Amino acid sequence: MTTHQVVFLNGDFIPANEAVVPILDRGFMLGDGVYEVIPAFGGQLFRLPEHLKRLDRSLDAIRIPNPMSEADWQQVLKDLVTRNGGGDLSLYLQVTRGVASKRDHAFPDTVIPTVLAMCTPAPPVPDNTIEQIGVGAITRPDIRWDRCDIKAITLLANVLLRQEAHDAGAYECILIREGFAWEGAASNLFIVQNGVLITPPKGAWLLPGITRDLVLELADEHGFPYREDTISESMLADADEIWLTSSTRDILPVTRLNDQPVGDGKPGPRWRTMRGIFLAYKQSVRNSAAV
Ligand code: PDD
Repeated sequence: MTTHQVVFLNGDFIPANEAVVPILDRGFMLGDGVYEVIPAFGGQLFRLPEHLKRLDRSLDAIRIPNPMSEADWQQVLKDLVTRNGGGDLSLYLQVTRGVASKRDHAFPDTVIPTVLAMCTPAPPVPDNTIEQIGVGAITRPDIRWDRCDIKAITLLANVLLRQEAHDAGAYECILIREGFAWEGAASNLFIVQNGVLITPPKGAWLLPGITRDLVLELADEHGFPYREDTISESMLADADEIWLTSSTRDILPVTRLNDQPVGDGKPGPRWRTMRGIFLAYKQSVRNSAAV
């Protein structure tokens, strides 16, 4: 983080290197908070109402009152983008339960949530590699908790699982529970089977991804056959195509699963079609910013 970057912390826009949080903040001490990652293209926040709705839902689930109205969030985040020069960015926002007077698991009686929002240049999606090679994934038992639908900052299991993938020379770790694949350590999961796009239904074992919803919306709009259904380990292993979606990486084609080729081992034709549709949609957002 460079000194000229501006962050929003508890009501103020300040230089990133001046932003500090007390050690008794429950986010730091206990991982007691939630977050969002929101992409901006051409300075335009992508799917902002959807992200703010999910934030509201996460806060509600962990009993933190939303410290700002939707209109205030919109204003603050747009302001943050402008103050950081616009363009293609990845915004990170985090709300923790706040700073307690002592370390105690139970909620403090009175506490004011800590609100942080910051942005970094959007991580580049290395197009050539993606187009030609795709990414590798491994499967592992899902060792996370039973409320994966909450976008909690408590990410230790996700961190360890993603690192296992990296250690194995892969990009992502696809998580298995009770014989079914639910999502990646930081992404949602799709497969293509006999020309039909399949993604697991929303529930407690996966994050309701904003990119996931958009892919389904675009599939619907463009007559791309799809269904929300569970994906067994064997369906995953036999899939014609496997995709991963997230706000930071759009739609990634998985071309190797546990060191075995997926389909013919190259990014598939369905991925190519959907990626084209997705990029066109993104471009339309960029263009609307220029109006
Ligand atoms: N992660 N599932 C998990 C567990 C995730 O952490 C994410 C996103 C997704 C995809 O959701 P969306 O399409 O709304 O980004 C699914 C973000 C990018 C992160 O933790 O950095």
